[in-house]
Amino acid sequence: MGNKPRVVVLTGAGISAESGLRTFRDSNGLWENHKVEDVATPEAYAANSELVYKFYNARRAQLQEPSVVPNAAHEALARLEKQIGKDFLLVTQNVDDLHERAGSQRMIHMHGKLLSARCISSGESHRWEASFDETTPCPCCKPSGVLRPDIVWFGEMPLKMDDIILALTKADLFISIGTSGQVYPAAGFVQVAKDSGARTVELNLEPSDGFDMFDESYHGPASKVVPNFVESLLEELSLA
Ligand code: APR
Repeated sequence: MGNKPRVVVLTGAGISAESGLRTFRDSNGLWENHKVEDVATPEAYAANSELVYKFYNARRAQLQEPSVVPNAAHEALARLEKQIGKDFLLVTQNVDDLHERAGSQRMIHMHGKLLSARCISSGESHRWEASFDETTPCPCCKPSGVLRPDIVWFGEMPLKMDDIILALTKADLFISIGTSGQVYPAAGFVQVAKDSGARTVELNLEPSDGFDMFDESYHGPASKVVPNFVESLLEELSLA
């Protein structure tokens, strides 16, 4: 690996767990308390947009609670980005804004964002306003356009896949953090990076579904294992 490797980081709900946001598949996770097909599919939105809005409004409200702030893992990734520079890409499956609040900039929200709304007609994204509900006409196509949550639902294509795959095929190092490895295409990123010769590392509370595909795995809470890994990587690269 040269002095400044090309780095791709993938994050999932586990990185935000210690900031007070629930994951999906752990005990008491979001999918234990809600049926995916009732709140996170295009069919659910067509059948009962009010319920879908209620689900995302509750998550948005939680995100805005004063106790919900970035943790040491989000901060360590912002530091890593600063040290690596232009060859760093953070791909998150999370729809929260904790990476941005920690200072991350070179990033893709592949599953969309809670703090944004999408016009069904034009596909354009708008900043979420507190007054939005399932009947709000969108600012771009008023009065006919309707706003939906800017979230990639099951059965929909994640965002910016071409950019992500390109970065993975060029990566020297791929780090997967806080994701159960159960949802594709993100769960397949390790294989794409590996096939392109990258070193692959998993940082997770416990071994994920595909942990044996990684060259290295470090298990424990993200707020500990991520800063530890980032510090040792920066030392290894003489960038500490
Ligand atoms: N530190 C590190 N990892 C943690 C922590 C923690 N403090 N707490 C939980 N984890 C791990 C869990 O062990 C689990 O492997 O985070 C992972 C969370 O997995 P999921 O709940 O499945 O979340 P994620 O992988 O992000 O889900 C992917 O599924 O429902 C969809 O669109 C949703 O983006 C989401 C996608």
